[in-house]
Amino acid sequence: GTVVLAVGLTACSTDTGAGVIDTVGTIDFVNPLAIPPLAESTVNADGERVFDLTAESGTTEFTSGVDTDTWGYNGSYLGPTLVAARGEDVRINVANDLREATTVHWHGMSLPAEMDGGPHQMVEPGATWSPNFTIDQPAATLWYHPHPDGKTEHQVEMGLAGLFLVQDDEEAALTLPRTYGVDDIPVVVQDRRFDDDGQFVTDVRGYIGPIGDQLLVNGTLAPYLDVTSEVVRLRLVNGSTSRMYDFGLSDGRSFDLIATDGGLLAEAAPMDGIRLSPGERAEILVQVTPGETVNLQSTPPDLGTSASAATRNAGDDTLDVLELRAAATLSSIGAPSTTLAAMEPLRKADASADRSFTLNGYTINNRLMDMTRIDETVEAGATEVWTVDNAMPLPHNFHVHAVQFQVLRVGTEPPPAELSGWKDTIYLEPGVRYELIMQFAEYTDPDFPYMFHCHMLAHEDAGMMGQFVVVKPGEQAGTPPTAHDAR
Ligand code: C2O
Ligand code: CU
Repeated sequence: GTVVLAVGLTACSTDTGAGVIDTVGTIDFVNPLAIPPLAESTVNADGERVFDLTAESGTTEFTSGVDTDTWGYNGSYLGPTLVAARGEDVRINVANDLREATTVHWHGMSLPAEMDGGPHQMVEPGATWSPNFTIDQPAATLWYHPHPDGKTEHQVEMGLAGLFLVQDDEEAALTLPRTYGVDDIPVVVQDRRFDDDGQFVTDVRGYIGPIGDQLLVNGTLAPYLDVTSEVVRLRLVNGSTSRMYDFGLSDGRSFDLIATDGGLLAEAAPMDGIRLSPGERAEILVQVTPGETVNLQSTPPDLGTSASAATRNAGDDTLDVLELRAAATLSSIGAPSTTLAAMEPLRKADASADRSFTLNGYTINNRLMDMTRIDETVEAGATEVWTVDNAMPLPHNFHVHAVQFQVLRVGTEPPPAELSGWKDTIYLEPGVRYELIMQFAEYTDPDFPYMFHCHMLAHEDAGMMGQFVVVKPGEQAGTPPTAHDAR
């Protein structure tokens, strides 16, 4: 049916079955883009920067006068943006005020397995979990979200997610917009579907997973942003559970890609579109002229021939995402740096193991997730090549916890610019083999596993996930802690 919720937002629905996209029509951008607040922190006696996050339920007014039941951290929808510098020790007190158990996973962070917030680190209602770790990686746009086995999609869909920005000296020395909320803007894009009472429809199922017919950016429907600088840095996050985007600008102008999941590229890359699958991030610089208006849009992503033919998941139409309204007078920081971060290529010759992963049905290598089974055992500090294949004519992607990888090959080709930097999540075009290379950190724990999985959350929840441990050389994998909440 047709649901029109946002003031001035026309949504024409063509429901032809679960998982099939509706059309988002032309939007009147009526709502100022919400900027998630920066999280407050204090430094404790041990020198740790301490943050407090409380997962809670509430209501959010996406459309004026309509209260939607939602969940958030320290608020009713999404969570505050955590910022910490490379080298800092951090501690996050995660309190659970929900009526069900949850976890908080630090997506993209290098850290000990016990701090990772995967499905083994359940925080029961009323409990508090306080992981601590040292930030030991380059400046990047990371994020956090729940990860309970079998329930991740629902909890993320209710609104639990936030950004974790890592800063470092290398990034700080460059000429780049970096005033949060002014010329450095988080853009968390999510799709949602509302029922006639304005509540999230959370039980739409199809193989792809739930696909919404309206977009939220930082929790704002039909958003606009007042741009006050010649160059604005957008930190794009695909925070959707299943939907793919191909972001670009409405007049086709190019933008500069400066960073991917794990940090800055070596060189800024001019491009006119970038595809992001769930969990992926990209930082782009958009240039505007005084007084103009230009829209961030998503055109139907090219998901690979067979995937596009087999599913209309990505939509047949262009989606309006965010209107950029340039002020009459714009501030300038000067020409942005184009040479960005040094990036040592990891070498195949240094790899001590090769592993292959085939995604099919809801399985990886023909296995469904089992909380009690360790699938892979990796040695601390090892460089490994992981080859990943999507054996289906449908979209999947692949995320590895606690490590950033480089892409060696996409099929027989070297990676395009958007896959040339540090990545932790990658779209898997059907029939294309992806060769990834990664070096694991020195944190070891034979018992506590990290996850690898498809980040289309319905797939992850259905079992498209596996577990690896990082051990000392020669050490055997142990036994994971007791499983909770089996699916
Ligand atoms: Cu963003 Cu294992 O997840
Ligand atoms: Cu998948």
